[in-house]
Amino acid sequence: MRDELIRITQEELEAQKRFAREFHSLPGRPRTYHIVTYGCQMNAHDSEKLAGMLEDMGMTAAPAREEADFVLHNTCCIRDNAERKALGNVTWLKEIKKERPEMLIGVCGCMVQEPGMAEKILHQYPFVDLAFGTGNIHRLPELLYRAVDTRRRVVAVPEEQTVLAEGLPIRRESPFQSYVTIMYGCNNFCSYCIVPYVRGRERSRSADDILREVEGLQARGVQEIMLLGQNVNSYGNDMPGGVSFPELLRRVSRTGIPRIRFMTSHPKDLSDELIAEYAENPVLCRHLHLPVQSGSNAILSAMNRRYTREAYLEKVEKIRRAAPDVGLTTDLIVAFPGETDLDFEDTMDLVRQVGYDSAFTFIYSPRVNTRAAEMPGRIDPALATERIERLIALQEEMTQKRFAEMIGKRESVLVAGLSRRSENQLTGKCSRNISVNFPGDPALIGKIVPVRITGAGKTTLKGQIIEGE
Ligand code: 5AD
Ligand code: SF4
Repeated sequence: MRDELIRITQEELEAQKRFAREFHSLPGRPRTYHIVTYGCQMNAHDSEKLAGMLEDMGMTAAPAREEADFVLHNTCCIRDNAERKALGNVTWLKEIKKERPEMLIGVCGCMVQEPGMAEKILHQYPFVDLAFGTGNIHRLPELLYRAVDTRRRVVAVPEEQTVLAEGLPIRRESPFQSYVTIMYGCNNFCSYCIVPYVRGRERSRSADDILREVEGLQARGVQEIMLLGQNVNSYGNDMPGGVSFPELLRRVSRTGIPRIRFMTSHPKDLSDELIAEYAENPVLCRHLHLPVQSGSNAILSAMNRRYTREAYLEKVEKIRRAAPDVGLTTDLIVAFPGETDLDFEDTMDLVRQVGYDSAFTFIYSPRVNTRAAEMPGRIDPALATERIERLIALQEEMTQKRFAEMIGKRESVLVAGLSRRSENQLTGKCSRNISVNFPGDPALIGKIVPVRITGAGKTTLKGQIIEGE
């Protein structure tokens, strides 16, 4: 609820800035940092804020973990393998620390926010010097100051995630593509998902704060912004009489920023007004990520998704009618507890029917405290693997179909850099969010260029710049 929200005050922000300044002259302080980021865009953006604060503290980025004085792991806990990977990498550093005892190891982000995890870190990971949850990000200067000053371990996890931090320094990874958070947290409690427990309830930033940030980015020449929220369609619901998400999109579009994307929208709240925006707003990229999770009504209900397969397909139909050139992508979970062969076939059938550009596919992973973790009907891992492989193969077929339709078309590509695969090739995303590789001058990096699609690989398109346009 909005009235529970604690905005960090100007005094608190000043206090953190003081810690950052005083850190410069702290004896034996770390000079270099390296941040290892796991998980979603929200975490990637949090890492940009963490880096911003560390630079304010007089530290510079070290290219490799093993060389840094302070290594911070910004973790994810959405699935068991994300968590195991982070903990494995933290443990790996223990060996490096034996040779370089002055190295500081930090763990932050969603995993630290999980019930019982702070205690686990305290007892089972004694070489971790600093741990804090997502709600404490803005306190990094103070926490690190205390860890270095006292030479003692610092573990800080807030009880409630009610803080909304404005005014943090941000060290952005790209000069032409930027993340802008519009809301934090999630109220949906899908039965499999840990996010509402580790990121707290929905808190929207004010439209004025968002617009000010976007205007600043536009003035610095940023070409594309990605508006971030766990469930952007609920933007403003916690602010009675506030701005709705479609209205926010319109206002952001008027700043003159060339391209806008957003992540992620929940199908149950995808409004006609937002669909209309795709038809009317040329600044909005031609891509919609609309996670369906399953094609079976029984499973959707057990997942607490609050829409049916039919309602989802109807929304897809509406989007296709309003804006046929919008590419759809999705998230899919297989082997949810109790998923029968027929339920799974419903998912396969839905994937065939929608024809997504691409999909993220996951095997269900039980998470502490979530309702699904208590549900009967666990699926045998061998069967889960078989299902996900079939699903991936089907999606690859659908991707090829979509790619084939795009050959010969003109796409606007924001050039992100050099292609990793082949020399003399540039790479960037088209408005539909598909990577396009094409020969070109590296001076074009950071610009939006017209490209004719000439071919398709497995996950990327090939093209040629359209000259003289
Ligand atoms: N197991 C498997 N996949 C999950 N996701 C979220 N929680 C789980 C879980 N417990 C997937 C969903 C979500 C995406 C970000 O991660 O598909 O949309
Ligand atoms: Fe998790 Fe559902 Fe919220 Fe997405 S909408 S973050 S899947 S609870």
